[in-house]
Amino acid sequence: MTRLLFLTGNAGKLAEATQFFAPLGYQVEQFLIDGEVPSVIEPQADDLRFVAESKIEQAVAYLYASGQKAAVLVEDAGLFIDQLDGFPGVYSASILKQLGLLGILKVMSDSNNRGAEFRACAALWDGQQIIFGEGICRGSITEEILGDRGFGYDPIFTPEDDDTGRTFGEMSRAEKGVFSHREKALKSLKNQLD
Ligand code: IMP
Repeated sequence: MTRLLFLTGNAGKLAEATQFFAPLGYQVEQFLIDGEVPSVIEPQADDLRFVAESKIEQAVAYLYASGQKAAVLVEDAGLFIDQLDGFPGVYSASILKQLGLLGILKVMSDSNNRGAEFRACAALWDGQQIIFGEGICRGSITEEILGDRGFGYDPIFTPEDDDTGRTFGEMSRAEKGVFSHREKALKSLKNQLD
C-alpha cells in the first residue's frame, strides 16, 4: 500500500477519496502535522486549477519539512450556478457558511434557469512530479432541500445524467461516485498514474 496524504479539512472529500483509492493500492490518510491540517494560503483566483497548483506546492513543502515519504493529494472544487454567472464557484465553501442551503435556494427562488455544475481539480504529487485531474458534473439546483447524505451542496444538486432525479444528498457515496466531478477528477489522475 502506498500512503497518500490528502490535505483537506473536509471529511466528505476525505471519505470519497479513500473509497476511490483503496482498490488502487493507496491508503488515503488526512495530511496532519501535530494533529492539525497544515494551513495553506488559497490564492484569490477564479480558476480551480490555479488554486490546486498553489495548494499542492505548499503541501509538498510541508511534506519535505515533516521528513515524511508519501504521495500527496489536494483538491479544489466548487458549485458554479448558471443564473449567477458561475457564482459561488471558488467561493463555494465560504458562501455556504454564510448563507446556508436555504439562503442559496432563496437567492434562486425567482429563477427558471436552475442549471449548474460542480467542478473539481485534483493535484497529486507522486514523489517525482505533480499531475492534475479535472472533472465536471452538470446538473440543476432543486427548489427544496432533499436528502441528508453527502456534504456541502449535495442536498440541492441533481446530476443531469441520473434518470431518477435524486439529489446527491439522496444517494449513497457509491451512487454519487457514478456522476461526481470529484470521481472524474480522480479517475483522470488514475489514468495518468497507470
Ligand atoms: P474547497 O474545494 O474545499 O475550497 O471548497 C469547496 C466547497 O464546495 C465545499 O466546501 C462544498 O461546500 C462545495 N463542494 C465541493 N464539492 C462538493 C460536492 O461534491 N458536494 C457538495 N458540495 C461540494
